[in-house]
Parts: sequence; C-alpha cells; structure tokens
Amino acid sequence: MTETFDEIWPIADRAEGWCSDGQARTLWRLADAVDAPGTVVEIGSYRARSLIVIAAAAADGVDVVAIDPHGGNDRGPQQWTGTVDEGDEDNERFWANLAAAGLTERVTHIRSRSQAAHDDVGDIDFLYIDGAHGFRPARDDLVRWGAKVADGGTMAVHDCFSSVGVTLALLTTTFVSGRWRYRGRERSLAWFERAELGPAERVTNALRQAASLPWFATNLVRKGLIAAKVSKADWPY
Ligand SMILES: C[S@@+](CC[C@H](N)C(=O)[O-])C[C@H]1O[C@@H](n2cnc3c(N)ncnc32)[C@H](O)[C@@H]1O
Repeated sequence: MTETFDEIWPIADRAEGWCSDGQARTLWRLADAVDAPGTVVEIGSYRARSLIVIAAAAADGVDVVAIDPHGGNDRGPQQWTGTVDEGDEDNERFWANLAAAGLTERVTHIRSRSQAAHDDVGDIDFLYIDGAHGFRPARDDLVRWGAKVADGGTMAVHDCFSSVGVTLALLTTTFVSGRWRYRGRERSLAWFERAELGPAERVTNALRQAASLPWFATNLVRKGLIAAKVSKADWPY
C-alpha cells in the first residue's frame, strides 16, 4: 500500500496524460481528506495518470469510481475526434497503468459517457471532472454530477481558465450558483466546496473566480499561437 504522494507520483508520472505534479499533489490531498465510508469519482480518466494518484490516496473503505467511455473522442488537447482503436488503446493502457501501480482492485471503471452513468453512482464526497470539454457536456457534468456531491464535499475541475468550453461552463455555474465555494486553483485545476453561500459571499465568491480571467485571456493567446504554429510552447493546462 502506498503511504505518501512522493511514493506514488513517480509511478503515476509514467502514465500519459495532462496532470502536472502540482495538480496531482492537490488531487492527492483532496482524495486523502475523504473519510470511509465514502465515494470518490473521477470523470475522464484517459490512461489513469490522475486516477492512480486519487486511488492511492483514498482511504480503505472509500469507493473509487472512474467514468470514461474510452471511445476515442475528446481525449486531450486538440484531440476532439478520434477512432475506436485509439479509445481501445486508451482502455488497455488504463488497465496496464493501474496494474503497474498495484491499484487494479481498487477502482471500479464505468466504461460509459458521464451523461449516461448517473444512475450508476449515488452520493459523492469528492468529484474530479476532467471528461468532455465542450460547453454543454462540461456544464452538464458540473450541474448534474455536482448535484451528487454531499454538503461539505469537494468538486475539482481540470482545464478551468484554459479550455473555452469548461470556462464558459464555470461562468454559468460556479460563478453564479451560490452553491460552490471556490477554494483555490493550481494552474488549470480549480476546486470548490459544496456549501450554501449568503448574498455577500456570493459576490466575493464570483470575484475570486473572476480574478483568474486575465490568466484565461493569456492562455487563449498562447493556444492561438501554438495552433497557428507560431509558438512551440507547451499547451497550457
Ligand atoms: C483530458 S483526458 C483525462 C485525463 C486524465 N484525467 C489524466 O489526468 O490523466 C479526457 C478523458 O475524458 C474522456 N471523455 C470524453 N468524453 C467523455 C464523457 N462524455 N464522459 C466521460 N469521459 C469522457 C476521454 O475518453 C478522455 O479519456
């Protein structure tokens, strides 16, 4: 059994994906905070890079559920459409990477789109969203999966203020709903606490999130330059 982040990260870091060291540390901390019995859900697992960290951090008695259709679409930056074969390869790598981390038995994988898996999962203590990045499905995950998070629970979201679809989804949900207290951001990984905010806190909560909009504008420029092949910088996430 893995006891610390520093033990598991070198293993998770061998899996392909888009989770930075700092983001993985945050996920470890948030998953580790869940008491048993409890449930941790990741939407969008790709090849299990972030999932390995989450599953290793989760206490005994905490269920770890991964939802990913491995359908070949919306796999990562500039990979909106793909093939069934690519999805199958992701699925093979997912299981191989979990096995290398000794975590095969720790994870329940639902090979389905998140929009079709609502009935398969009950209340959630920690929800990590990194699935479909278009506005509609991203918003659907925030609203309908977010509704399953218990009071005091946590929702973390990848590609905030980086992806246009995810950021627009945040603008229409966590910015205005008064039900998600913004707790912080590690690059594009933002996390929120499920809570009921009063009128004054709703305003400060929206303003705290809005403080990241200049960084979003910078990321749009960086992405534009990369897409136009003017820049060879890393894709921002
Ligand atoms: C950016 S990758 C996830 C990366 C992963 N969290 C990591 O850090 O290694 C996005 C994943 O979302 C999955 N996905 C796409 N559409 C989805 C949907 N509707 N529901 C759930 N997962 C979806 C893709 O198959 C892909 O594996």
